[in-house]
Amino acid sequence: MIASSLSARPEIIRGLWATPKTLPPKLFYDEIGAALFERICTLDEYYLTRAELEILTSHASTIADLAGPRCGLIEYGSGAGTKVRLLLDVLDEPAAYAPVDISADQLARIAREIAAEYPGLSVRPLVADYTGPLLVPPLPEGTRPLVFFPGSTIGNFDPHEAAAFLRRAGITVGSEGAMLLGVDRRKDARVLEAAYNDASGVTAAFNLNVLARLNREFGSDFDLQRFRHNALWNDQASRIEMHLESLEAQTVRVADEPVHFAKGETIWTESSYKYDRSGLEELVRRGGFELARLWTDSEERFWVCWLTPSKLRA
Ligand code: AVJ
Repeated sequence: MIASSLSARPEIIRGLWATPKTLPPKLFYDEIGAALFERICTLDEYYLTRAELEILTSHASTIADLAGPRCGLIEYGSGAGTKVRLLLDVLDEPAAYAPVDISADQLARIAREIAAEYPGLSVRPLVADYTGPLLVPPLPEGTRPLVFFPGSTIGNFDPHEAAAFLRRAGITVGSEGAMLLGVDRRKDARVLEAAYNDASGVTAAFNLNVLARLNREFGSDFDLQRFRHNALWNDQASRIEMHLESLEAQTVRVADEPVHFAKGETIWTESSYKYDRSGLEELVRRGGFELARLWTDSEERFWVCWLTPSKLRA
């Protein structure tokens, strides 16, 4: 959608004229990018989605017990809506579902489908960029809020921003609600790098689509042949970094202004932070929550956490 990239305009301009050059990961998710991401989720190398689905499936009835009857489910980054169906199938008469996503077309489609599949559920989609100030989706009176933030999307924030996000989300959770959070775990660098640099090149296409999108919607003239996808594990910072590397010295026009690239210079398009147990506990505490329950998959690659508001928060 043109509207979303135009609203990202200041970030695009700031990012491309900064050192190092950056672009925000929300730019990945136009229609083409959202479809590429769905393909990433099925790749052999991209274990995250399968691991999280395994956890949600194994602990579905416990999650339903913890959530209680008539909860109001708010999901940040609803994507294709696969995971939430797992929850909706087991929850006790959920009252409302408020999916929040940047990808407007996909969101409208998923909201329509879910409303049709779950009669009696009030579906309230919200097109929004949840990396900014957080809007509280209105829920029916008397429903207990359950914020669902799956997929390790929290990993796109640096740890400081991630704690700030949790604090904002805490306003939606209130004193009686809870949050179900998916977090990817630190692990062997080879496993991580393979997950973000798959053999079939889908992640490369996903990353390069950002440049194609700027060409389509922002009037830039990036030559995609002159950039390559690069994913690397930064152990010190505990994150995967995705970059688009300029294969030669070149000048690209963006919004009628020249942007210069040295050979080998990159645009940093995404970070995916990975947490160990102590890092997770610190994040949760700084975010104003308590780690009430913690589940992992059979191969201990991923976590799903049940967070309740910290009693110290007040
Ligand atoms: C949707 C942000 C969780 O960081 O793993 C997948 C996005 N980037 N492959 C992630 C992504 C490259 C994904 N998140």
